[in-house]
Amino acid sequence: MSYKVKDIKLAAQGSLRIQWAENEMPVLKIIKEEFKKAQPFENVNIAACLHVTKETAVLMKVLQAGGARVSLCGSNPLSTQDDVAAALAKEGMDVFAIKGVSNKEYYECLNKALDIKPNITIDDGADLISLIHNERREVLKTVWGGQEETTTGVIRLKAMAKDGALKYPVVAVNDTPTKHMFDNYYGTGQSTIDAILRATNILLAGKKVAVAGYGYCGSGAALRARGLGAHVIVTEVDPVRALKAVMDGFYVATMQEAAKLGDVFITATGDKDVITKKHMALMKDRAILCNTGHFNVEINVDDLKKMAKARKSFNENVEEYVLPSGRRIYLLSEGRLVNLAAAEGHPSSVMDMSFADQALTAAFIAKNYKKLSPGVLNVPEEIDVKVAKLKLQSMGAKIDILTPEQKKYLSSWQEGT
Ligand code: ADE
Repeated sequence: MSYKVKDIKLAAQGSLRIQWAENEMPVLKIIKEEFKKAQPFENVNIAACLHVTKETAVLMKVLQAGGARVSLCGSNPLSTQDDVAAALAKEGMDVFAIKGVSNKEYYECLNKALDIKPNITIDDGADLISLIHNERREVLKTVWGGQEETTTGVIRLKAMAKDGALKYPVVAVNDTPTKHMFDNYYGTGQSTIDAILRATNILLAGKKVAVAGYGYCGSGAALRARGLGAHVIVTEVDPVRALKAVMDGFYVATMQEAAKLGDVFITATGDKDVITKKHMALMKDRAILCNTGHFNVEINVDDLKKMAKARKSFNENVEEYVLPSGRRIYLLSEGRLVNLAAAEGHPSSVMDMSFADQALTAAFIAKNYKKLSPGVLNVPEEIDVKVAKLKLQSMGAKIDILTPEQKKYLSSWQEGT
């Protein structure tokens, strides 16, 4: 057993926070009991590169209960909750994660996590898979399959598969409905606004909030910003998504136009250079910029640094940049994913579903890996249905069941007008 955490003395506080999350994660609780009996991961090593949060801790314990030996590293330099990492290390788990690590230390942690010779990898952003394919190719001998948690990671993996570079099967957990329809929409929506408020405590009512990207994440953030009384502007490159935003009642504009109007900017596109110097030059005094996409490429922070004639930190998550015009721009959490850097990430209750998908997918890989081929695969539908049913049950919601006549009607074509 080994670990690299900030301070092992934070373990007691971390354990309490993990308990708090557990109470909000009833689906994982049921799966844990099933795994305890069935032991799907007997002699299985799992390396996970995830945001080290209290919710991730609950997932790791579920995998352990199923017999797995697990190792965990962070999936972003700023998202680790140091008390949670300490609690897991104290319990004997291999954990390599510290909030605020440099890029070099970040990759040292990933490399350590791979030392257990994983049979299954779990990624959030595909960094572990990239590392295995670029530098740690010996892992390809032991690995059976992988899983990917986020949209950005799935995009990277599909690019790898297209190039014929992906050497093992990876299940795109992000793409299953019980993940992206809830985690990306309600989770990102709430946690992004939570982070902006924790960092700045500004009043959103009456502010102009520009949201870049109207996918599941951006539309969730737009919905919640509007809920607090903001006037929301949406920027998009996809005509269908832009149209949806218009019909959802948002003002749709180019970033060039939004730059002049916004008080707060939230990027949620997954692409680079969404906000660059040409936009920053147009912004109002005291505009706030933040990113909720996976990588810190959406706001061109280098542009901001080069333009600024002075800089000052207001707190851990708010950096002021003074432009030559005298106008000030506030950048939150260095342009890294604000919801995990300045807040606690998505609420446990929604991570319950995403991580139930992850846990059941890991069991699926352990059972079926011999039948799977390299490439990007979908989560089996039974897993999605099971997670939805368990979540509904935990929320006390009952649903109707099709009668035999209704089922027959849906599978026939003879009955018409
Ligand atoms: N991604 C977004 N929110 C998260 C959380 N609370 N835990 C782990 N990964 C996350």
